[in-house]
Amino acid sequence: MSQANKPLFNIVSSEHYLCGLMSKEIVVSGIRSTGHLHLGNYFGAIQHYIKMQDAYNCYFFVADYHSLTTHPDPKDLKSSVFRVLAENIASGLDPEKVALYAQSDVPEIPELYLMLNMLVYKGELEKVPTFKDKVRQQPENVNAGLLTYPVLMAADILIHRAVKVPVGKDQEQHLEMARNFAARFNSRYGDFFPEPQVFRFSDETVKILSLDGNGKMSKSENVNATIYLSDDDDTIRKKIMKAKTDQGPTEPNMVMPDYIQNLFSLMQMVSAPDVTATHRDNYNNCVIRYGDFKKQLAEDMAAFVKPIREHATELQKDHDSLRKILKLGAEKARASASVNIEGARKLIGINYY
Ligand code: TYM
Repeated sequence: MSQANKPLFNIVSSEHYLCGLMSKEIVVSGIRSTGHLHLGNYFGAIQHYIKMQDAYNCYFFVADYHSLTTHPDPKDLKSSVFRVLAENIASGLDPEKVALYAQSDVPEIPELYLMLNMLVYKGELEKVPTFKDKVRQQPENVNAGLLTYPVLMAADILIHRAVKVPVGKDQEQHLEMARNFAARFNSRYGDFFPEPQVFRFSDETVKILSLDGNGKMSKSENVNATIYLSDDDDTIRKKIMKAKTDQGPTEPNMVMPDYIQNLFSLMQMVSAPDVTATHRDNYNNCVIRYGDFKKQLAEDMAAFVKPIREHATELQKDHDSLRKILKLGAEKARASASVNIEGARKLIGINYY
């Protein structure tokens, strides 16, 4: 076979995949297909996915239904889903090891969402801070999907009876709600759903701040203070050189403001340990020069993002392979989801034949 015709992935069957998964803990996580993925998505979620893909039974998906709350243009949806898929794979996620699928390919998810909606109260959903934020940001579009967002998210997780969910700090409250809804189902109908926990490799859940120090890095806000996995080297350099700093520490070992701490966290993730240690010592001894510090971070960040960007760009040209990956992912996800929805139906009493 010529190089040009060679498939990008050697896809194994879903039966093959299912063998050997039985004893592994079940993990679920998703990323909305709105906008371009950024460092918050990478360090808050994707890097965990990659580290977990061998030891766990992983279900990772593109949350395209969730993206509908903001009414994306229908002609953009496919390219958004393919981009998220490609950026995950380019970051190191192996579609042979995990189930990598589109949420809308698993109809059992909306079915469970409907069931859970009967156990969830309007009042508790109205109190959710992310809902209140959205009401403030888009008062013209406060749709029911926004209100019940945490219920759909719980359905995404519970449909595979997952126990671990790798997410960034901004999703912790949604996870708490998923646990509550699971417990509510169990107490009404009988023990069925495990209560899923946030998964993290360190003590703290990751939160990457926007480079201007205003809130978390996010797909849609502060575009110039957000580094995307699709940014080229020069864009990355410019954004980092503009990152918020200050006059510098005025006494030794001063506590860092969060925007400086954020730059150090990023450096720790992409630079050599001794490089980070030297700059940290400089800070603690009040001799740090933010210009040099940011220059180093910019170079290391550009070198880190470059192979991901290049690989993702290549992958996005190969729609056939991406389609095959989605199909296989859907098969794997439905194999699990169909068994669990049947269990939930029976417990509820939807058991007529
Ligand atoms: P989304 O698409 O906003 O973000 C995807 C993942 O990236 C993490 N993340 C961050 N982590 C650290 N710092 C940041 N600045 C940052 N920004 C984003 C998020 O925590 C998330 O892990 N509701 C979810 C998608 C979802 C989901 C699920 C997740 C739908 N169903 C079920 C887990 C399980 C969301 O909007 O993520």
